[in-house]
Amino acid sequence: MDEKEVEVKAPEPEAQAGPAYPDDKPKENLIPVFIYGKRFFVPESFTIITAMEYVGFQFKKAIGCREGFCGACATIYRLEGDYKLRTGLACQTVVEPNMYLVQIPFTPAVKAVYDISKLKPELASIQRYYPEVFRCVACNSCTKACPQEIEVMDYIQEIKRGNLAKAADLSFDCIMCGLCAVRCPAEMVQYNIALLARRLTGRYLLPRSAHLAERLAEQKEGRYEKEIEKLKGLSREELTKRYTERDLDFKVF
Ligand code: SF4
Ligand code: SF4
Ligand code: FES
Repeated sequence: MDEKEVEVKAPEPEAQAGPAYPDDKPKENLIPVFIYGKRFFVPESFTIITAMEYVGFQFKKAIGCREGFCGACATIYRLEGDYKLRTGLACQTVVEPNMYLVQIPFTPAVKAVYDISKLKPELASIQRYYPEVFRCVACNSCTKACPQEIEVMDYIQEIKRGNLAKAADLSFDCIMCGLCAVRCPAEMVQYNIALLARRLTGRYLLPRSAHLAERLAEQKEGRYEKEIEKLKGLSREELTKRYTERDLDFKVF
């Protein structure tokens, strides 16, 4: 996961409070939210990210795609009158009245260094680098925290059983946001453990693609070098045209 940082640079909260707002701001209902403990008024349809930017906070690193894909904007929050500490992606979660908001700057996480070519696709490989996987107490806090609705606890259980391919499949949509690890009482980093399971599965357990092997062999023989040189000389417009008009031999959804 990328290092994340939020630069806090906001106006005085009371300057924001009140029904009127400048002409260049959207005309819609404003609702109160608490950001880092201070009250601000923000448009009710905004996400946490856009609401924080609306009142003057600047995101330098705890931000990426803004579309729910990169996992950089993990956040925790509480709702008024609710004991529960909630989790989500700040770019996807719409503000609610009297939300208590904060951005998580970074999730510290151990990521093992290994040579995948020297490992076998078996439980012992995971155990060697992440022995803490056996500390799981099956509390399901990780699954409840996951903004991707991944069955995190289930993939951990599959790993413990040595079913790496199943774990790889269950964890496939992980965006490495870190929220499962933040909530884990066993203090494991589930997403890095799952990453190793997916790498082992990809390298050893899935069938080889004949198509890919052929292309790689052709590349090694230098078959595409002339064509690549030609592409390098094209303008951005020509490249875009070629890309959008290319023939595909698979279906795009
Ligand atoms: S499995 Fe963990 S890191 Fe992956 S998306 Fe879910 S909460 Fe985020
Ligand atoms: S939060 Fe940790 S201990 Fe609880 S089920 Fe998930 S991996 Fe296991
Ligand atoms: S900014 Fe990428 S998931 Fe929110």
